Amino acid sequence: MVLVTGGLGFIGSHVCRELVRRKEKVVVFDNLSQGNLEFLKKVRMPDIYDKVTFVSGDITDFASVFETLKEYGIEKIVHTAAITFIPTAIKKPSLTFNVNTVGSFNLLEASRILDMKKFVYISTASTYGDFQYTPADEKHPLNPKDIYGATKVAADRLAYSYFQTYGLSASIVRTSAVYGPGDLERRAAKAFIENALQGVPMKLEGGGLQMRDFSYVKDVALGMVLALNSSESAGEAFNITGGSEYSVKDLAEMIRKYIPGSEIEVTGARKIDAKRGMLDISKAKRVLGYNPKYDLDAGIREYVKWMVEVYAPLFGLKVKNKPVFD
Ligand SMILES: NC(=O)c1ccc[n+]([C@@H]2O[C@H](COP(=O)([O-])OP(=O)(O)OC[C@H]3O[C@@H](n4cnc5c(N)ncnc54)[C@H](O)[C@@H]3O)[C@@H](O)[C@H]2O)c1
Repeated sequence: MVLVTGGLGFIGSHVCRELVRRKEKVVVFDNLSQGNLEFLKKVRMPDIYDKVTFVSGDITDFASVFETLKEYGIEKIVHTAAITFIPTAIKKPSLTFNVNTVGSFNLLEASRILDMKKFVYISTASTYGDFQYTPADEKHPLNPKDIYGATKVAADRLAYSYFQTYGLSASIVRTSAVYGPGDLERRAAKAFIENALQGVPMKLEGGGLQMRDFSYVKDVALGMVLALNSSESAGEAFNITGGSEYSVKDLAEMIRKYIPGSEIEVTGARKIDAKRGMLDISKAKRVLGYNPKYDLDAGIREYVKWMVEVYAPLFGLKVKNKPVFD
């Protein structure tokens, strides 16, 4: 039995799909913070919801976490639940610390007591702060610039300390700028596609020169499950990303390739944005056999299709600019 915290979320739902595909029994533990169960199943799990068990619970509640692990005989955990959207984290630092750090501690502590066989924590490239070199490998210093990154570093290193101190088989996956079907936040790729489809300009903050290693969500889910099943991943951190770098402007141009009528507008820069770029994924390739299947072109193509076919009807989005896939 595998428990996926935040399994109704954007990345968590894809992790569930990858696990179901591999015939694992999956229990989702989620506090339904993004909507009710029926709605989230429809948006994120139309194909697998009847193959997954749902538990409504909060990771900040130790008793609820502990009882769930015991009741379902959970042997492995993929922990994705968090306050994940940086603007929300900045507005709500106390909640962010409580969920991202204390909630992660609760899961680790319950795992220690119950002798969990495997624990995979999803961390982030935000832990590296401004990149001092690219591609940034897992040894890059952890210097987060915002509250989100700081709470993620704390949980990332707690997971490591539980391996070192108690021998918990914990692994850390650091990913970056994840995009693809199921995202409900206004992150760059989603906001751009939404605007482009509606005939609203894509807004490039500071000219869109920020470099990012964009990661397609299915690749990230695959990397997480590889880390979960590897016998060599305990106590290790892995960068799991697309493994290339593009500017945010490149992202907008790629979207324009599939939604030809779309326009681009340049706006002021956000101060908090860290200077980032490509991550070194050679360790994940070597140890886990990870190999991203989607470059930006293939990922955006599939994502635009999902936005038109699934997201637009569900959210009443009026598609003014029709996408072209030939
Ligand atoms: N999206 C990205 O670009 C990105 C990049 C790097 C790392 N990550 C990490 O990946 C993970 C998943 O991110 P996402 O983009 O899928 O976010 P998401 O917001 O779509 O999903 C998070 C899920 O966690 C649940 N949740 C939140 N608080 C909870 C709580 N207290 N108890 C139980 N469940 C709770 C939410 O209801 C939601 O279903 C996070 O840990 C995030 O830090 C995301």
